[in-house]
Amino acid sequence: MAQVTPTDGRPATSKEVGRRARVAPRVASLPPSGIREFFDLVQTMDDVISLGVGEPDFRTPWHVCDEIIDSLERGRTAYTSNQGIIELRTAISGYLQRLYGVEYDPNSEVLVTNGVSEGIDIAMRATLCPGDSVLVPEPCFVSYSACAWLAGGEAIPVPTRIENGFRLRREDLEAAVRPNTRSLMLGYPSNPTGAVMTRAEMGEVAQFVLDHDLLVYSDEIYDRLVYDGHQHVCFATLPGMRERTILLNGFSKAFAMTGLRVGYTCAPADLTEAMCRIHQYAAMCCSTSSQIGAAEALAHGEGEVQRMVADYDQRRRLLVGALKDMGLDCFEPQGAFYTFPSIRSTGLTSREFASRLLEEERVAVVPGTAFGPCGEGHVRACYATSRENLRLAVDRIRRFIDRLH
Ligand SMILES: Cc1ncc(COP(=O)(O)O)c(C=O)c1O
Repeated sequence: MAQVTPTDGRPATSKEVGRRARVAPRVASLPPSGIREFFDLVQTMDDVISLGVGEPDFRTPWHVCDEIIDSLERGRTAYTSNQGIIELRTAISGYLQRLYGVEYDPNSEVLVTNGVSEGIDIAMRATLCPGDSVLVPEPCFVSYSACAWLAGGEAIPVPTRIENGFRLRREDLEAAVRPNTRSLMLGYPSNPTGAVMTRAEMGEVAQFVLDHDLLVYSDEIYDRLVYDGHQHVCFATLPGMRERTILLNGFSKAFAMTGLRVGYTCAPADLTEAMCRIHQYAAMCCSTSSQIGAAEALAHGEGEVQRMVADYDQRRRLLVGALKDMGLDCFEPQGAFYTFPSIRSTGLTSREFASRLLEEERVAVVPGTAFGPCGEGHVRACYATSRENLRLAVDRIRRFIDRLH
């Protein structure tokens, strides 16, 4: 059993040693999510305007809830097939075909998961061997490196920077790749930066993937949330990539269904079968009600998606415009619902800025370092909140910044 030294310098009691040693070292060494840590503090405070949590403030479209209620009344509460109900898998396949022209067989290449969160986990567990490394562009969603680690692999950060519009460049990938690199994690449109990549830029990434014989996990959960005429590039549509890509997507963001927990993976049959084997033992299936709701969202939810995207776009303009007005160097986000301004001009670190803004003005943002060390000098503000809240938050942030100067 590993000896545990208490931080106050006294020897560990046998109880402490025993309790600690029950947790696997791989898990014990995982740092807690920087977002959670911060939001535990927010929960203890009143009158906070939160630009923190990355969650739509819209309610789930009513027709989705109605369909779920109807299915409950009809007693549809049993397990489904491990892969998910065929109506939903067929709908997902048709949706991707319509949007991007990419084809997945609903019988063998689509798996319904408990959100993209589960998709990331099982994609990595199904494909990584101990000692493999995964390239992870940063700053990025908090799960990527943790899931790689839990799957027995190691995440190699690939820093992206505001000077390059937070885009992933081939030279940065070449500088990071190692002989043991097995795969690349992509997350565009990006949480936390709002960056999107063009087809030409993605083409260079695809060439890198071919040259190094890698697999790709492509988290496209924000695919529908793109602005200013930008087009989302579905990575599997690039030449040679469909065979090498596990496409991850879900209903949380575009359809405002975070708590219903529905996502999906699309990948060649051998990879889908491998992921389904983990999913069947760890989760059995996704909630039946939620799958029914998701199928309804795809069948009749397009108008709602477009209405929400148009609204996010206005909020994006409001927040980004105001932050720039305050003199912050603010990269223009083209996707997702986050802005990631540089706060270097204030002389504070990300953590100091976020803590003081919370304590002094009751506005919650997330320190950029929660998304990787290269997020230092930035904070993430989510604009998936009402315009009224955004205006209040902007007034408070302006007051805070004026006081610093
Ligand atoms: C980039 C990204 N991927 C995945 C997720 C998890 O989504 P889900 O609710 O589908 O598990 C999030 C949630 O914030 C996210 O930002």
